[in-house]
Amino acid sequence: MPSMMIAIDGPAGAGKGTLARRLAHIYHLAHLDTGLLYRAVGLKMLEKGEDLADRQAAIRIAASLKAKDLKNSALRDEAVGNAASHIAPLKEVRDVLLAFQRNFAKNPPVNKQGVVLDGRDIGRVVLPEALCKIYVTASPEVRAERRLKELHEKGIDSIYEAILEDIKIRDARDQTRQTSPLRPAKNAYILDTSEMGINEVVDKACVYIESQYSKVCKQS
Ligand code: DC
Repeated sequence: MPSMMIAIDGPAGAGKGTLARRLAHIYHLAHLDTGLLYRAVGLKMLEKGEDLADRQAAIRIAASLKAKDLKNSALRDEAVGNAASHIAPLKEVRDVLLAFQRNFAKNPPVNKQGVVLDGRDIGRVVLPEALCKIYVTASPEVRAERRLKELHEKGIDSIYEAILEDIKIRDARDQTRQTSPLRPAKNAYILDTSEMGINEVVDKACVYIESQYSKVCKQS
């Protein structure tokens, strides 16, 4: 069997991160949550007090990013997500981070069977050659419910309508930006998780992945 390469894309809160982690475990893959790269640039911009519109500062910070920068627990903060969504449209920043992502995909650790990357443009831009491309989606209302539950579990009081509004604004920003807008790759397997639990999502993804690889194995 060839080394595995799985590309997962989709909007925030659709469940792509959970799916990617489960697939990484099942198939012994190295996993890169590519949103963390954009978040790491956003966090450093905030820490250094840079103006989020300062293109040169964002490019400089993106170019200096190291693997250890992806381990900071502050990356999950709302303010960091917001900063990330401001720098994500910058083409030069995306180009620098593209090299980081491709390098990760080309050099998985020796004890791994391949890689799974999740983000917004993996199937179309980062790994167009991936045999398995999954686009995970869910309605904005379902994603807002999931986010609300997650925040409640962390003891954070939130308002459903505000979360829903925020999701819609982020979706619009991701989908309408000029560089690498969020969109499924042409041959992606679309998985709408609105009405599914995580186990069903994983089962469906595994059936798709195994059918893709069995086609290749039969051809070779
Ligand atoms: O998935 P996330 O919330 O961690 O992503 C943070 C931001 O980075 C979000 O605005 C989308 C952007 N992003 C991107 O443009 N391309 C990716 N491959 C991953 C994330």
